[in-house]
Amino acid sequence: MATAPALSRQLAEQLDFAHLVQDGRVHGSLYTNPEIYAREMDYIFHRGWSFVAHESELPNNGDFVVRKVGTQSLLVTRDNKGEIHIHYNRCSHRGAVLCQTNSGHRPRLTCPYHAWTFSLDGRLIGVPDEEAYPEGFNKAEAGLARVARMDSYGGFIFANLVPNGKTLRDHLGRATELIDGLLGLSPVGRIKLNAGWIKHKMRSNWKMIVENQVDGYHAPMTHGSLLKANQTFATVRDRKPKSATRVRDFGNGHTDIDHTRDYLEANDRLFRWTGGIDPARLPKYVQAMKDAYGEDEARRRLIGGPPHSMLFPNISLAEMNIMVIEPVSPTQSIQYTCPVFLEGAEELNARTLRRCEGALGPAGFLIADDAEIGELTQMGVANLEPEWVNLSRGMGKEEILPNGITQAGLMDETSQRGFWRHYRATMAEGQEAA
Ligand SMILES: [Fe+2]
Repeated sequence: MATAPALSRQLAEQLDFAHLVQDGRVHGSLYTNPEIYAREMDYIFHRGWSFVAHESELPNNGDFVVRKVGTQSLLVTRDNKGEIHIHYNRCSHRGAVLCQTNSGHRPRLTCPYHAWTFSLDGRLIGVPDEEAYPEGFNKAEAGLARVARMDSYGGFIFANLVPNGKTLRDHLGRATELIDGLLGLSPVGRIKLNAGWIKHKMRSNWKMIVENQVDGYHAPMTHGSLLKANQTFATVRDRKPKSATRVRDFGNGHTDIDHTRDYLEANDRLFRWTGGIDPARLPKYVQAMKDAYGEDEARRRLIGGPPHSMLFPNISLAEMNIMVIEPVSPTQSIQYTCPVFLEGAEELNARTLRRCEGALGPAGFLIADDAEIGELTQMGVANLEPEWVNLSRGMGKEEILPNGITQAGLMDETSQRGFWRHYRATMAEGQEAA
């Protein structure tokens, strides 16, 4: 069973996370220190549940994708019986990387070095000149190394590199309602991530992307040029301080910006979340939703729209796109984005693709702004004073709902504080205690 190397006891004692992460402020070194970064890869990404792939990315037997979790390259395959597996992307012979491309389709996997060949479920099925190996060499014991745990929810597949600890369901906790909210916009309750991923290198720490993804404060300023230039981005334009939208902390580091509430209070327009498309242009989709959920519930879903959320630590359900964050170093990350296609909503999917092209990626109108701000912030926190980053906006004004979710106004930093609380517990004591 593979596990990441634990950090030394000495380092664990040096890093005092109760000091570095306080309720209204966090220390600037959290974005720059390589020892902290190494511990994050181990404690958060390897020992916790990380998103790896969505089942719709591997529609056919023989499909594979390669994904990074923490420092580890993982190989996700769909075998000849349709089962999905996650193995380490490492030949069991001399250790070469088995798959060098990000995705593909193969009947079997052959190592480029000495052509050891594996089935898609990880068994070693071919060794050139096998008779030269000594007695006792057993192919059945030389398959690919499987990750310790794998589980899925709503088609989203997660991996955990250690055998013990919380289940995926415990980790997701109340945040399953966010995934359910997205799937519930499909008349058959399923999404597809098959348009391909836009890959965007960000010169900022991965946690800055997490913080920004559920930040309701920055949009009018950081994205000011977009708001002036393109009035169809209604979901951005509507982020006003007095809006009914709330930021929410679901616990376990999961957070969201709940636009649904704002849209439902307006209660008269479907599809504001698409930039205000006329429902008459989506007749088959609207009818399919009514047939699936009934008139009133379909209307509620089509007014409320998708979640805008960040699931700890690496996946954001960002309305009609999914964003995945891959840490590269303390000062660099890769951000992957992919439009969400709803099964049974082909009329809408074409528009979703166009909107994502306009908003996402290095040439988009939206994410490029966030990338630049992330870079400026990374450069700024490299300066040693004033040491702390302030995250106190809205403290003391938060509302704790009967279901345990904490919420506050759109522009409050409740979502960032929710992320950091879980981060502190995880980094101080390990995933098991968090
Ligand atoms: Fe932004």
